[in-house]
Amino acid sequence: MDLQTTLRSTGSARTFRPDPVPDATLAAVLDDARFAPSGGNKQPWRVAVVKSAEIRRTMADLMQPVWDEYMGAQAAGHRAFAFGRSVDAPPLPTPNPLLDHILDVPVVLAVAADLRDIAIMDGNADRPPMVGGASVYPFCWSILLAARAHGLGGVITTFLSRREAQAASVLGLPEHHALVATIFLGVPEHQNTRLKRRPVEAFTTVDRFDGTPFSA
Ligand SMILES: Cc1cc2nc3c(=O)[nH]c(=O)nc-3n(C[C@H](O)[C@H](O)[C@H](O)COP(=O)(O)O)c2cc1C
Repeated sequence: MDLQTTLRSTGSARTFRPDPVPDATLAAVLDDARFAPSGGNKQPWRVAVVKSAEIRRTMADLMQPVWDEYMGAQAAGHRAFAFGRSVDAPPLPTPNPLLDHILDVPVVLAVAADLRDIAIMDGNADRPPMVGGASVYPFCWSILLAARAHGLGGVITTFLSRREAQAASVLGLPEHHALVATIFLGVPEHQNTRLKRRPVEAFTTVDRFDGTPFSA
């Protein structure tokens, strides 16, 4: 598959066939993904391949209430966990196939980043910092793209970061590291390739963000 098609058609997969993913395939995926860019080429990522059923179950137990909180906010018409938006909605207990079947997901990766290796350019802004993530999320996305090249699919999730303190002890998160993602991979039951995304003119303007719409 050519790069342009891959970029335009790599949707999330959250349910997987029972086929196991050999360690050699996962190693090959990570070996491709490691070429992702990072600030100063510091490559601040660490990956834990979570095979232990006990650790996976604990992860799911930590993520489920966050999912319920998210769904409760959505049901009340709010954008959950967004900056500057307070949400006063009760959690809505909602099944989540990834978490319900976490023991059956072929690959579960916990991804962390060493904060000492990241230039957080907006670390002093009076809003939540954003720039640091740019040194690790391209790597996460490269994992999904590389997985696709190996016939796999999956999804990046972040809900475990809301329980980082508890997850840290379960996963042995090193000091000065942030837990940035949990990535689920496997042979997708269905590979979503028809992605819904806004058109370029909906988010691109000339000169300034309040400029005229950019179009070819
Ligand atoms: C930073 C990030 C966080 C995400 N967190 C979650 C998550 O916690 N749970 C989940 O099911 N999907 C998660 N996703 C996947 C998005 O929901 C998905 O990319 C989006 O809905 C578009 O769907 P599509 O890729 O199938 O087109 C996340 C994606 C990104 C990039």
